[in-house]
Amino acid sequence: MGPGALASVLAALRAPTHPQVLIGLAESDDAAVYQLNPDTALVQTVDFFPPIVDDPYTYGAIAAANALSDVYAMGGKPILALAIAAFPDDLDQSIIAAILQGGIDKAAEAGAVVVGGHTVTDREPKYGLCVTGLVHPARIITKAGAQPGDRLLLSKPLGTGLITTAAKRNAVVATDLATAISSMLTLNRQIAELMSRVEAHAATDVTGYGLLGHAAEIARQSAVGLRINATDVPALPGALSYAEAGMVPGGLRRNLDHAAAYTSFAPTISPAHQLLLADPQTSGGLLIAVPPTAATALRDLCVAAGQPIWEIGEVIAGTGITIT
Ligand code: CO
Ligand code: CO
Ligand code: CO
Repeated sequence: MGPGALASVLAALRAPTHPQVLIGLAESDDAAVYQLNPDTALVQTVDFFPPIVDDPYTYGAIAAANALSDVYAMGGKPILALAIAAFPDDLDQSIIAAILQGGIDKAAEAGAVVVGGHTVTDREPKYGLCVTGLVHPARIITKAGAQPGDRLLLSKPLGTGLITTAAKRNAVVATDLATAISSMLTLNRQIAELMSRVEAHAATDVTGYGLLGHAAEIARQSAVGLRINATDVPALPGALSYAEAGMVPGGLRRNLDHAAAYTSFAPTISPAHQLLLADPQTSGGLLIAVPPTAATALRDLCVAAGQPIWEIGEVIAGTGITIT
């Protein structure tokens, strides 16, 4: 669902409060957090979607990396996962097995075990994981802690929606698609571990609502504004040219329309760049708000670990997003 529609449905729900639910429906963060004891809380999330690439094993692995990401965005470590899937009756069993194996192997890379799952019949395949993780209750990183002066860091380039759309229209350069797939297959495990070593104020992962949509969630829940420097935002190779060529995924227009309510673009920002900033990402990077000294420390840690990281802007007083 689009960000506006989902928010209005959720606003109408009556969700009982519970003393052990630290993060639930009311907080609407990347994942729910349930405190088990003073030292341990469960992190719980689910994510699944239709095939984004042709190769079934790669699709399963990307869907798993994407689902695991919400645990990392909370500062947690994934431990267990259940597969959730829909397949057509006539889909070759070897294809189903490859999708499931891709998810099992990606979860294993994250240190998590796929222990079961559930499938239903549907004409369009869908696959993903329900993931359980652990976090210390004092180390939860939500969308709500950003403060004016914080730096905004992003750990993956944007453009997976534009590039996979170009691929569906047989208009993609093979190396561009390969780079996008490699990015989607990359776990947010390393950046989450590095983030946990500094005093991060807020974080989320950039997925279907695009950078603008997910940045807006940090802005709203932290009651701050964000200033993002468009030229500092990294793009996957080819992404901007596919935007210029009109290879625009369905959700992108919806994201950009929704962003109009809270985003002001400097007149210098090209239409293609606006599309990139709203491009729905699959298995995107972490967007992290950290105070300036911690930002320097985190960038140093990333350089030492070979972890890509980009500083794209800052947290300011006010509301909404300003693109300069
Ligand atoms: Co998320
Ligand atoms: Co999610
Ligand atoms: Co069942």
